[in-house]
Amino acid sequence: MEFKEGLTFDDVLLVPKYSDITSRSQTNLSTKLSRNISLNIPFISANMDTVTESAMAVVMARAGGIGIIHRFLTIQEQANEVLKVKRSGSVIIENPYTINQDKTVQDALDYAEEKEVSGLLVVDSDSKFTGIVTDRDLLFETNTSHLIKEVMTKDVVTAKPGTSTEEAKEILHKHRIEKLPIVDESGSINGLITSKDITNIEDYPSASKDKKGRPLVGAAVGVKGDFLERTEGLLDAGADVLVVDIAHGHSENAINTVRNIKKAFPDCELIAGNIATAKGAEDLIKAGVDAVKVGVGSGSICITRVITGSGVPQLTAVLDCTKICNDHGIPIISDGGTRTSGDATKALAAGASSVMIGSMLGGTDESPGTVLTKNGKRFKVYRGMASLGASLGRKSKDAGSISFDEDLNDYVAEGVEAMVPYKGTVTDILKQLTGGVRSGLSYCGANNISQMQDNAEFIKMSRAGFAESQPHDVSVM
Ligand code: XMP
Repeated sequence: MEFKEGLTFDDVLLVPKYSDITSRSQTNLSTKLSRNISLNIPFISANMDTVTESAMAVVMARAGGIGIIHRFLTIQEQANEVLKVKRSGSVIIENPYTINQDKTVQDALDYAEEKEVSGLLVVDSDSKFTGIVTDRDLLFETNTSHLIKEVMTKDVVTAKPGTSTEEAKEILHKHRIEKLPIVDESGSINGLITSKDITNIEDYPSASKDKKGRPLVGAAVGVKGDFLERTEGLLDAGADVLVVDIAHGHSENAINTVRNIKKAFPDCELIAGNIATAKGAEDLIKAGVDAVKVGVGSGSICITRVITGSGVPQLTAVLDCTKICNDHGIPIISDGGTRTSGDATKALAAGASSVMIGSMLGGTDESPGTVLTKNGKRFKVYRGMASLGASLGRKSKDAGSISFDEDLNDYVAEGVEAMVPYKGTVTDILKQLTGGVRSGLSYCGANNISQMQDNAEFIKMSRAGFAESQPHDVSVM
């Protein structure tokens, strides 16, 4: 039997090349996520329940990347997360939340809390605009059984359909208001422009956006049970891309799922994985995917290699898939095992167009879950989606949930539950990651990712070389 060599990030370095780059801000990190979707930075937050829900996806899109909402929610819940992202950054909110003026203050409070908004537009029984009710109207309202029409602001400045962003800005400024309902001549609501959304657009010039100017967002689906219904719900909510999420993506289950989704929803932009070989990539490409996700057992919380003995070291897995993917114009997402900007740079240089990240983004303000304190240190839970804890917490059987009533000894976990230090906001982590990759491009004499892939020359290093690459002979403070 022939043994192949498998290498990963710590086995290699990129050989420095002549560079004419004078400042790393000169470099361009834009890349392809999938056949028809581009990003401004090559980073994707992982579809894991301790990494990506709407809060994470909003920040990822603002920075120019994308977040993939995990699938361990009911269809409705997952679609709502997608909707929250879509509503978070559009110039104009097309279907603002409304409430009937004959409802009570309590109804308004409940609805605003459910939808996580600070104000609601008020309509009469013919759905015509009559006013606005915001948290300022409701703040000191002690009698929550009052009708909305008694407490709402009635004299509201509105704008006509077709109002431009600049015009909206002027109106908002002139009247010192934050919300501008767009109302047509018959009194029907056409949309809502808020000062916060305009500021967001100006503050995040590199944000990844759809054709309507809304943030890009993806969502994951499984390969069993309700996946077609889930696909429909997510696409209706506005998901730009779906990810068929299965541990062994080079399988009949994954391939059939890709075919079925593409047949039912031909326009759906579809990523599938995970795979770790050229043959795996080829079979998914033949089934119709728009990008492949590469990585088996490389994730920080994965124990697939320990439990099953299967996997491919991450750098070799990406390198192996590069030729076939390039031949077909299908981007590669390197998923798992990225611990530093150097790892991300090596994955990109090896042929990946983008990098999916779990643990580095876990433990942040935007990751789901609360901050816990132990021995005076703050941390958050970060767990593998095939860990026992994640499986017990799931809400749908199709997502692979188990209950305490079942024999837990029958469940073979392929992931662990862990703690990661609390790290503050994702924005700061992304700045470090993108800054490091930009410098990496410069060391490769490249202005952009594709040039780096052309120039890249890897050198294999010994254990001594690896030790030399770390801080050594000093006490790091
Ligand atoms: P990092 O290293 O960024 O990896 O934390 C995140 C990726 O790990 C994968 N993942 C798992 N792999 N068992 C596995 O073998 C699991 O329980 C598990 N949960 C997540 C996934 O590809 C993710 O993006």
